[in-house]
Amino acid sequence: MKLDITPVVKAQQVDFKRPPLEFYKAIGEEEGMKELMYDFYDKIYESDISHFFPQDEDEFQKVKEKNTKFFIQICGGPKVYEDEAKGMDLDEYMVRLHDDFSITEKSRIEWLGTMRDAINDIAIKKKNVDEKLIEEFWDYLEKFSKLTVNTFSDGSHYYANLLDKSDSRLGN
Ligand code: HEM
Repeated sequence: MKLDITPVVKAQQVDFKRPPLEFYKAIGEEEGMKELMYDFYDKIYESDISHFFPQDEDEFQKVKEKNTKFFIQICGGPKVYEDEAKGMDLDEYMVRLHDDFSITEKSRIEWLGTMRDAINDIAIKKKNVDEKLIEEFWDYLEKFSKLTVNTFSDGSHYYANLLDKSDSRLGN
């Protein structure tokens, strides 16, 4: 199975496709997505990017819950994250939310590597999700995560703005 990471290029347009509903179904809908995302966040706390996230247990729990809801909705499941995005375009909202953190390519690679471990443990080994669906889910993460990178090695910043771009990205 190919779960590669390609480098981010500053200011380059990213054409991503939202993950398929079939992935959401195969992982076991709301409960399965919760399992995957909670495992991911438990692994985040052992990772090199743990300092980005709340150290307070209640706050950490809130991030886990919101993250799970987001992934349910982005896969085409029930619109359980809708209220969080305050009526904004969901993709644009998610990019803007990351503006508050200085995210580098190195952090992105750590984030993706952590997610790859969670996918391996939960989606592949435990739930036996079809390879093609995993690859489509990964493709979304690998591409979308480029839009969260806003801090570059020369110290400069660039904040991606999806609203300026064409709508070819919308898969669902
Ligand atoms: C595919 C890429 C990514 C997606 C879909 C994503 C999604 C999310 C979601 C849904 C949340 C919770 C939002 C909420 O509070 O309502 C979140 C929070 C966060 N994400 Fe990401 N993320 C991505 C990549 C990254 C990367 C690469 C980093 C690098 C460090 C990162 C760092 C954070 C941080 C620091 C928070 C906030 C924690 C807090 O509230 O204090 N994310 N992300």
